Amino acid sequence: MLSEVEKKEIQEEMKMYPVASAACLSALKIVQEHRGWVSDEGVKAVAGMLNMSNEEVESVATFYSRIYRKPVGRNVILVCDGISCMIMGHENIYEHIKEKLGISYGETTSDDRFTVLPISCLGDCDHAPSLMVNNDHYNELTVEKLEAILSQYK
Ligand code: FES
Repeated sequence: MLSEVEKKEIQEEMKMYPVASAACLSALKIVQEHRGWVSDEGVKAVAGMLNMSNEEVESVATFYSRIYRKPVGRNVILVCDGISCMIMGHENIYEHIKEKLGISYGETTSDDRFTVLPISCLGDCDHAPSLMVNNDHYNELTVEKLEAILSQYK
């Protein structure tokens, strides 16, 4: 199921660890980079390569909130709902996303442009509220700032 490129990249990661299973998260990230998310077949393929059970790989995949086990849009908005962000206005930010994009947590816009998901603490509490879009980190958010951020992603 994995492409030759994916297999080669995973094999390169495996060389960096004393045991193959230590490359599990890296392998899942590689699959996700190529496919946008990790399907059941992706979990099985990684398990096969790393000599792990499907359940072991699944437990890693579901532990990390940035491994997506369902299809996502072209851009993933991760809204921090940790305590500092809650205190500093997370609700306004999330409400604006819901209103502007018409999606709630776990949903994707009909044009596949955005998926919105919650995440607990981005380690940026002193600059709350925070969110990420894909790998980009934004903080000290206001509704105005959010508008400008979202317009950058097509
Ligand atoms: S609680 Fe949001 S960055 Fe820590």
